[in-house]
Amino acid sequence: MKIFVDTAIIEEIKKAESWGILDGVTTNPSLIKKAVDSMEDISLEDYIVEILKTVDGPVSLEVAGSCYRDMVKEAKTLYDKFNDVNDNVVIKIPVNTYMEKGDDNFEGIRTIKTLSEEGIQVNCTLIMSSNQALMAAKAGAAYVSPFLGRIDDHLRHAMGLVKGEDYPKDIYYPEDIAQRVRDYKLMELLEDRTPDEVLYNDQEVMRIFDWGNDNGIYSGLDLIWSIQQIYEKYDFSTEVIAASIRNARQVRLCAEMGVDISTIPFNVIENMMVHYKTSEGMKAFCKDVVPEYREILKD
Ligand code: G3P
Repeated sequence: MKIFVDTAIIEEIKKAESWGILDGVTTNPSLIKKAVDSMEDISLEDYIVEILKTVDGPVSLEVAGSCYRDMVKEAKTLYDKFNDVNDNVVIKIPVNTYMEKGDDNFEGIRTIKTLSEEGIQVNCTLIMSSNQALMAAKAGAAYVSPFLGRIDDHLRHAMGLVKGEDYPKDIYYPEDIAQRVRDYKLMELLEDRTPDEVLYNDQEVMRIFDWGNDNGIYSGLDLIWSIQQIYEKYDFSTEVIAASIRNARQVRLCAEMGVDISTIPFNVIENMMVHYKTSEGMKAFCKDVVPEYREILKD
């Protein structure tokens, strides 16, 4: 699995690069905003150049517009301005830029088609469904970024597992427990009813059957699995970037599923290396080193 770092903060990118495990970088307007807040004495343009020079792998830069014409224009501007630096610019295009009534749902897809035909690599972002990923691949996207953390957020709320936004962002969404809550609710509702009542008349039961899934998708990881199935069946060359990752457990599950790429926040990459039994073992090994052994280690 390739590892990208999901940040625009140059210190984090340089650090991850120095560890020798970094394959690329993804940014978006929110991550650039965070970086700008921490920037000193450097223009944003020079800052982006530094990011591109730091990594010998794809660096995603996102457009800001939302209609086909603006997005194609901005994509070309970004590409022309920055791709010569290290030949590693990938343009991020939102899959669906719909914001107001009357907007076209396909502005993003059309943009991807045009840019891909002109040889500009596109990372199609804000993917929340397998159908969107199918469209992006058909339009020629080099990468798609399904947002697994945000799907989990959506399901948590839909199931009433959390109230408001007030829960730790890095907490793992327990898909299996959510399904058990659903089954429990169903058992409660099914009690004292005949099969006919349940099958044909009970709206509440029908509603609970739909509970805990987003059109048949049971978690962010499930969305990624579904996209992988579709791409494999039709031999699409589009690579899947697991995005909106919030914790190390999600990274492990992505790796087990054989995801092409995970784009991971810097703090989560750090967490991937931590286990208290490793620290405990390390302390014990250091304590046990005998002088004779230390002698051998000298050159
Ligand atoms: O890669 C997309 C990512 O930056 C969004 O993450 O945690 O805001 O959903 P998050």
